[in-house]
Amino acid sequence: MDDNDKPTENPKPTSDANITPKNESEISMDSLARKVQESLSLAKRHKFWETQPVGQLKDLGDTNLPEGPIEAPTPLSEVKQEPYNLPSQYEWITCDMDSEEMCNEVYNLLTSNYVEDDENMFRFNYSKEFLQWALRPPGYFRSWHIGVRAKSSKRMVAFITGVPARIRVRETIVNMAEINFLCVHKKLRSKRLAPVMIKEVTRRVHLENIWQAAYTAGVVIPTPITICQYWHRSLNPKKLIDVGFSRLGARMTMSRTIKLYKLPDQTATPGFRKMEPHDVPAVTRLLRNYLRQFVVSPDFDENDVEHWLLPKENVVDSFLVESPETHEITDFCSFYTLPSSILGSQNYTALKAAYSYYNVSTKTPLTQLMNDALIVAKRKDFDVFNALDVMHNETFLKELKFGPGDGKLHYYLYNYRIRRVLQPSELGLVLL
Ligand SMILES: CC(C)(COP(=O)(O)OP(=O)(O)OC[C@H]1O[C@@H](n2cnc3c(N)ncnc32)[C@H](O)[C@@H]1OP(=O)(O)O)[C@@H](O)C(=O)NCCC(=O)NCCS
Repeated sequence: MDDNDKPTENPKPTSDANITPKNESEISMDSLARKVQESLSLAKRHKFWETQPVGQLKDLGDTNLPEGPIEAPTPLSEVKQEPYNLPSQYEWITCDMDSEEMCNEVYNLLTSNYVEDDENMFRFNYSKEFLQWALRPPGYFRSWHIGVRAKSSKRMVAFITGVPARIRVRETIVNMAEINFLCVHKKLRSKRLAPVMIKEVTRRVHLENIWQAAYTAGVVIPTPITICQYWHRSLNPKKLIDVGFSRLGARMTMSRTIKLYKLPDQTATPGFRKMEPHDVPAVTRLLRNYLRQFVVSPDFDENDVEHWLLPKENVVDSFLVESPETHEITDFCSFYTLPSSILGSQNYTALKAAYSYYNVSTKTPLTQLMNDALIVAKRKDFDVFNALDVMHNETFLKELKFGPGDGKLHYYLYNYRIRRVLQPSELGLVLL
């Protein structure tokens, strides 16, 4: 069966496919830099981002600039002590994510106003349990969970968060904030509220003596460290086609499509099992060793692994391979649960999506390991399994029948310059 027979996915593949160098050692920095420059010059000026300590468009491709912090930290006493000004009808709040009531408010704002696809057919629907997990990792700061309320109605109208993370860039481990869940209510868009949110979270991060951040966005702003692409593997093709996520491929029938994506009931790898609490030390060793090969990755210790990777019902799933002979932990795979609301279907309201998280293969071929991950995701009733082309993911995507989506995901660092744009395969970081 040729490629044309496969159903195409919506989000659709784009024409400017990723540049895949024939030889990793011959990474074409020029073409990558040019690619970023092109997408940036298509866009408008960036009145806010041009004022920030981030890689600037004009510096792209200038390999003489030093790698590392763009601005030195200022003494803490010089960090602005009062919050930034909001329009007078709004007020800042710090969100206590332990509180069910607060969690509900955040959930409700995001469920109605967070990220949608280009065609407004789907909207991310992070669950409350997921938000509590994502926002309370080891050492988190409540002050970095920031809401904006309308003073009169008390309704939450905007949100932004940070969580602390140690991120390794080449040999250097940098204390950073991972910034996420930036959201402004639909009725308040294009009023320049987002820059105020970003400045306020930056101020609160600075107050903890942290000066760098990592974040991702669908939009292009100055200046991505890499541009990744999502790939989608249908698990429930009939539903995906029904709700407009995928389309039936040319010369394909529904029954042939269902057959194409059918998976075995049982996983193939001997010793493949769910991760358990006693596995934390072994998984930490395995993961630390593996992530070392990427230019940028988290620096996970056992506490981080316990938080981010121990299975949590409907939030994160992790499996590993324990050698039946030696009982050594040799391989690991994980995915998180992020459903989307389906905005215009008669038949369905939710799309259940699994997102590939961290995977490590040392003995089991990565393709086999990920096929087992697909099998367990299917058993858990996910409709689709998504993966970015980061780390070694490119090596299994096509073989396991993932199709490219049309959205790009841009990765950014705040106040940290990287000498050159990275290939997605050089990135060992997945943000939620
Ligand atoms: C993202 C969002 C908060 C931006 O708010 P907005 O009302 O559209 O934009 P504002 O007028 O307040 O601010 C515009 C500025 O914010 C920047 N901006 C927009 N989206 C951004 C993002 N995701 N990350 C960082 N900066 C962003 C713009 O580039 C612009 O700055 P510039 O002039 O320097 O380019 C809003 O569109 C939203 O809630 N969208 C749905 C959720 C979403 O996509 N969140 C981001 C997930 S990465």
